[in-house]
Amino acid sequence: VNQAVLDVVASDARSGCRGVVPIDARLEDWQVALCAAPDELSRLLELHGSPLNIIDPSAMARNAAELQRVADSHEIDFKMFFARKANKALALIDEAKSLGLGVDLASERELIQALGRGVIAAETMVTAAVKPAALLSLCVESGATVAIDNEDELRRISALAQQQSRRVPIALRLAPTLPEGRPETRFGTDGPAALEMANRHWAAGLGSQLDIVGVHFHLDGYDPHERVSALAECFTVIDALRVQGHAPSFVDMGGGIPMSYLESPSQWATFWHEHRRSLLGQRDALTFESHPLGLVVRDGEITGRANVYPYFQEPTRADWLERVLTAPIQAGGHGSVADALRARGLQLRCEPGRSLLDGCGLTAARVEFRKQRRDGTWLIGLAMNRTQCRSTSDDFLVDPLLVRPQLTPADAAEAEAEPVDGYLVGAYCIERELLTWRKMRFPRGVAVGDIVVFPNTAGYLMHIVESSSHQMPLARNLILRPGQEAVIDEIDVSGR
Ligand SMILES: Cc1ncc(COP(=O)(O)O)c(C=O)c1O
Repeated sequence: VNQAVLDVVASDARSGCRGVVPIDARLEDWQVALCAAPDELSRLLELHGSPLNIIDPSAMARNAAELQRVADSHEIDFKMFFARKANKALALIDEAKSLGLGVDLASERELIQALGRGVIAAETMVTAAVKPAALLSLCVESGATVAIDNEDELRRISALAQQQSRRVPIALRLAPTLPEGRPETRFGTDGPAALEMANRHWAAGLGSQLDIVGVHFHLDGYDPHERVSALAECFTVIDALRVQGHAPSFVDMGGGIPMSYLESPSQWATFWHEHRRSLLGQRDALTFESHPLGLVVRDGEITGRANVYPYFQEPTRADWLERVLTAPIQAGGHGSVADALRARGLQLRCEPGRSLLDGCGLTAARVEFRKQRRDGTWLIGLAMNRTQCRSTSDDFLVDPLLVRPQLTPADAAEAEAEPVDGYLVGAYCIERELLTWRKMRFPRGVAVGDIVVFPNTAGYLMHIVESSSHQMPLARNLILRPGQEAVIDEIDVSGR
């Protein structure tokens, strides 16, 4: 399909369903091409059930290359570990492996799966928030690198390493100093405490089987300055560890490399401007029952912070990494972060999840009903529940697309051609079971059998909170590679 055709299809799919104040998604050609074949999409929904997660891993290569180019331009040793928790499809582990990326793993099962796909221990990084004995034991057996969060973990892994007479590579996880007012992180220990912990441990002869190969942190949020100051703390700890005779060779700055879901900064700004006006009663509601999306209205003023992912943001990936690497840093000398890395011969590691999956997925679901509530509010019911396109963010602030396959004669007869403004609702028997809080506009109406497509859902949105309450089956995950038939990801065959 040529670009001109794709543009027409994209514009058609966008115009079928849009936020009352639109926030248009950035779309990949493969996503648009799928929208150009609504009968094929309908066939897949029929075959596998609704909703359906469709994943094309190809964009991972482009996203990784974008970061690698920046690292290369600063001549630093750089290694990405794909944060696999962001999506459970096994094909994405394969993709990361084939691109020469490592894999960051958050549980025993994730580690078993990565090793089972042929990822070698040296290419793994285990950052699980809680590490039960079975996971620690598998780390020891397999030689995976483990980010040590606390002293209990250190004690337990040394004991296992001694029992199994194996050397285990570990990284100390730091809890960097955060700017005032920023909530503390639950992860890691502060630099001096980490050093003291290592001292005590090695002095007691307990570290004999452990190699401190690196220092790690992960911060929530996306602020490049926070990464720079955290890296400075890591350099201090690494320098001290080297004085003590350890040989750390990397610093790992975790994930949180930003991406942007939207086409336009102005649409994002306009949405928030209008949402604030609506919360102040200056215009009609943009969200279900005026859901504030984290903002607080008090005495005619708006305070609080939006509790949503910054679906539009700048800088992203390459520009963001450039800012981190070129930031001046005082760490035993002057120069940039890149200089400090090179001077110490350190590898910079990171663990991007979401930003590597940018462009890799979509979630599609079928419209099953349209109805008006007693007060006239339109509700559009989809065959999915709200955990199937949701993250920890209050809402998915990206406009879905609407495509119409060949309808059954009965549905076609009832297809509504009149414009409708309404809310997408899901299948859990909960009053506030909204698939998105925002009010959607369907200028050409909406029919039973239409397909709603949520674009760019591969990073967390498909899986991080998905549940199968009411005995609804989890969504099927299909892998769609360019020019090939869609196949069921092996996680749905073997991994549940
Ligand atoms: C330790 C660690 N590394 C990497 C990531 C991935 O973060 P992101 O998907 O924002 O890049 C996370 C996310 O929670 C994490 O906890």
